[in-house]
Amino acid sequence: MARAGEKREAGRRTPPPGSLPGAPAVYPPPRAFAEKARFRSMDELRALWRRSLDDPDGFWGEAAGALDWIQPFDRVLEWSPPHAQWFVGGHLNASANCLDRHVAAGFGEKRAIVWEGEPYSPGRAAEERTLTYADLLAEVSRFANALRTLGVKTGDRVGIYLPLVPEAVVAMLACARLGAAHSVVFAGFSPDALRDRLSDAGVKVLVTADGAYRRGGRVPLKANADAALEGLPAVSRVVVLRRTGEKVPMKPGRDVSWDEAVRRESAVCPPVPVDAEHALFVLYTSGTTGRPKGIVHATAGYLLSCALTMRWVFDLADEDLFWCTADVGWITGHSYVVYGPLAERATVFLYEGALNWPAPDRIWDIVERRKVTTLYTAPTAIRSFIKAGDEHVTRHDLSSLRLLGSVGEPINPEAWRWYHRVVGGERCPIVDTWWQTETGAIAVSPVPGATPAKPGSATFPLPGIATEVVDAAGEPVPAGEEGRLVLSRPWPAMLRTVHGDPGRYAEEYWSEVPGKYFTGDSAKIDEDGYLWIIGRNDDVIKVSGHRLGSAEIESALVSHPAVAEAAVVARPDPDRGSAIVAFVTLKGGGRPSEPLAQALRAHVAATIGPIARPDQVRFAGVLPKTRSGKIVRRFLRDIAAGEAPHGDASTLEDLSVLSALARDEP
Ligand code: PRX
Repeated sequence: MARAGEKREAGRRTPPPGSLPGAPAVYPPPRAFAEKARFRSMDELRALWRRSLDDPDGFWGEAAGALDWIQPFDRVLEWSPPHAQWFVGGHLNASANCLDRHVAAGFGEKRAIVWEGEPYSPGRAAEERTLTYADLLAEVSRFANALRTLGVKTGDRVGIYLPLVPEAVVAMLACARLGAAHSVVFAGFSPDALRDRLSDAGVKVLVTADGAYRRGGRVPLKANADAALEGLPAVSRVVVLRRTGEKVPMKPGRDVSWDEAVRRESAVCPPVPVDAEHALFVLYTSGTTGRPKGIVHATAGYLLSCALTMRWVFDLADEDLFWCTADVGWITGHSYVVYGPLAERATVFLYEGALNWPAPDRIWDIVERRKVTTLYTAPTAIRSFIKAGDEHVTRHDLSSLRLLGSVGEPINPEAWRWYHRVVGGERCPIVDTWWQTETGAIAVSPVPGATPAKPGSATFPLPGIATEVVDAAGEPVPAGEEGRLVLSRPWPAMLRTVHGDPGRYAEEYWSEVPGKYFTGDSAKIDEDGYLWIIGRNDDVIKVSGHRLGSAEIESALVSHPAVAEAAVVARPDPDRGSAIVAFVTLKGGGRPSEPLAQALRAHVAATIGPIARPDQVRFAGVLPKTRSGKIVRRFLRDIAAGEAPHGDASTLEDLSVLSALARDEP
């Protein structure tokens, strides 16, 4: 039921670039930035991109020198569509690439992580910790030894359900050190959502904490984990980190505190060499069915692309303080909090809490105090800063910033210009980076010293990435026309499969447009060849940059005893990109009421997590369906947006349903 083009995405309703009086349509790289940048010319960049596609073996064979190999690979790529193997025969270890090699090269005293906790009141020192590369190596080794003592072996899966504290990074790298795949679950997910993911991934050991701080409140992580593990005996051991300090019940024989687990362990743990294709992690994301899918990434191709994009896109310099505001529970946190920056020996800034807690300027206060050089955040956050008022930004000295990034959803040109002017002082380039959980690393983005930016466009594919915008038959559409965004070549950081469901991998990604990877996005290419992402073309909803599945929310709704059927759609929202609107029909005898609507919203939040709470629940007598009984969500999108349903309704079983819904009649 894919719909070509969410025409009402936030980024779409704004005037096209250049239409604002006096605003430039194109922003060339600022000269002072370009002079020091690693890549300075479009010609050089285009030549690199050309070569990456004309001679992928030569290009990637050389590029792979960015990693430390324990055993060199024999072949760059084995492509038997839709299955790719990259760097065949090579052996390496991801944690050794992120730690050991830097320490061995004499950078043990360089700061790897600078962390700040959420609890803070202005004028007081914030809680902070700094770990050098030598410290991080020791912590990771100790925890890897602890995991091994708890029974974790190469090839196992370990669940991680932690707040954004250094131990989250330690736990991920400790898994990588043993060749065990981690499966990080965002700490905002509810017990049910956690259980589904741990169970699907076949997790043996879970690493969690007593609680997490969030906006001054506390999230009971251990209690959530206990609830999730009821009926899930496969998770035989649980490591509990002390964070908020409250007393939590410990189940004898299963639970052990982090401190206890590492107490007798050595700070030396030789990294286990794994095959280039060995699974580094499984990360769950929403798709078009009710079940989230475990995206599997392979060690070498993923790590290499994370490292190279740190150079290409973030122009990383040794003295940078790199702050990606994402949580490690999402792909952005995996790739640009942990693997990319650490593989490239960056200093990562890590902040535990909400960017506007306890005051709207917490983020800018941090940038000023810590002297952040590179800030990578989401359009929703940027729009919330605009709303809060420029004074929260301008009273801080942000002169340490040299580069700004955006990710997760289309950035509307006004937000882009505000970010550029108010935050970046017109001196920092902006990289609007398009990618996905599945692409592993940034795939489309400006290269900041080279690419002239157009606000709202992610510009051009990076080396190794071949983008096309095609119609339903897979044929490229003319410039300026909307179509489906596909990637027509395999790339090193591509997902390898859906955990436990290889059929779904082939079906969801490689069959919509035969032989090409379907991204699920709508896009267009303008007359200058710039790529504009319009939004999702499937039943995935992006709320505040978080990815949710309509079907997932629908199954949460129908698990409520009052609900017969549910259909969930996105409504354009000027702040958060989209808002969630749920249409529900009630079981016999059920009466629509405001308290019931509230109860249903709360039920979804409790079943999946607060990020999935519908903004609106609308009761309906019947839902629009095809004769074969499939709910037609596209009409509901029009109705949710307050528009008259349009498009071909001839497949509907009962046309009168639409007018009743539009009049809001149950
Ligand atoms: O729709 C696109 C949107 O986010 C989707 C991927 O979501 P997820 O797997 O959660 O990964 C988000 C972080 C990489 C894409 O299919 N998206 C991501 N970046 C952009 C974007 N849309 C427009 N512009 C972007 N820069």
